[in-house]
Amino acid sequence: MNNFTFYSPTEFVFGKDTEKNVGELCQQYGASRIMIVYGGGSVVRSGLLDRIKKSLDEAKLVYCELSGVQPNPVDTKVYEGLELAREFKPDFMLPVGGGSVIDTAKTIAAGFYYEGDFWDFYCGKAKPVNALPIGVVLTIPAAGSEGSGNAVITNTKTHVKNGLRMPKLLRPKFAIMNPELTMTLPAWQTASGITDMMAHILERYLSNTPDVQIGDRLAEGMLLAIMEEAEKVMRNPQDYEARANIMWSGTIAHNDTCSLGRQEDWNSHAMEHEISAEYNVTHGAGLAVIFPAFLTYASKHNPAKVAQLAYRVLGVTESGDIAADALEGAKRLKAWLHDILGMPVSFAQLGVDNPDLELLNTRLHRLKGDVMQGYMPLDAEATMEIYKLCL
Ligand code: NZQ
Ligand code: ZN
Repeated sequence: MNNFTFYSPTEFVFGKDTEKNVGELCQQYGASRIMIVYGGGSVVRSGLLDRIKKSLDEAKLVYCELSGVQPNPVDTKVYEGLELAREFKPDFMLPVGGGSVIDTAKTIAAGFYYEGDFWDFYCGKAKPVNALPIGVVLTIPAAGSEGSGNAVITNTKTHVKNGLRMPKLLRPKFAIMNPELTMTLPAWQTASGITDMMAHILERYLSNTPDVQIGDRLAEGMLLAIMEEAEKVMRNPQDYEARANIMWSGTIAHNDTCSLGRQEDWNSHAMEHEISAEYNVTHGAGLAVIFPAFLTYASKHNPAKVAQLAYRVLGVTESGDIAADALEGAKRLKAWLHDILGMPVSFAQLGVDNPDLELLNTRLHRLKGDVMQGYMPLDAEATMEIYKLCL
């Protein structure tokens, strides 16, 4: 196991009606002027926004609102938010929504104290040294941003979708998680979120670091539980207990619990980010296309961990041929994503009929370098092979 530090200060407030505590929680964390951030209107339609404002009013807190954050959030909304923040001068950010809303709020939080262009953080030109504190009301279990120190934004001019990782600055102070709020999710978003959280576990599981039993067993246990609970949620979206299990899984899949002490991969995410940046597809759906292809490639080039996954999670029986068993695991995961979650598993099913693979691959390596390190070194030829497996 490698050395590590783990910093995870977020207070998770989980369960029915917990959003009613939002005013009190904001107060506890020293907020007096709050900037609420939300998306395209689901929180308005569900009445959640009104309940949140009522709680803030009761706590005598002042607030402003930034609405209209789109899925795969973009830089222009961050600029708009920064302008509003400089006028209103909040001392606390309150995103109400999913990863897109939270990541926009995180970026405004860090950009608020910076005189230059916030994009400098995303292209490595500058590092944020301060950020407004953040509290989250989560409405979709997927990206895990409520417990992570990361944010992901797309540059509308260059189509670069990039991430920022600053755990000390960007991990939320609190995250309110009421599984009932997720019952209004369309099946597509529920399934995309489940795919994303499984991918977050797999990106950590696919590692060459030896002797990481705790992380491995945690990851395998979580994947088994997610697959079981996912079937229940897809059958009955009003199943509170299954919704609750899925919601908590999304957080621990991405708060680093199962990646401590090991090298991680994240190359499937990098490959997917190129797809969602160019074709604006749902992140989890893009991963449903990329991940089985990545595992198929890994079965040939580094099958050990994929075979372990196949035996321990996907019900494959050892045949003595580790590469064949790994490949069978990749096939079973692909079938499960398609048959149980209803996810697309090819570019065509994703609605991208003629993907420009050269463009995706060139941008990928421009951003990540000639050879992407991780579970397997991937040069441009290797990533092109993986993209082609998605056709
Ligand atoms: O915009 P509204 O109207 O709110 O609708 C949203 C949106 O259309 C809808 N939705 C959310 N909660 C709902 C609901 N609809 C009905 N009922 C509810 N309770 O769902 C749609 C998707 O929302 P979004 O925030 O985009 O989803 P998600 O949480 O999957 O976030 C995806 C973004 O996070 C990034 C992805 O790349 C993508 O940009 N990621 C962020 C990470 C991080 N910060 O650590 C890591 C991830 O790997 C990921 O890259
Ligand atoms: Zn993800």
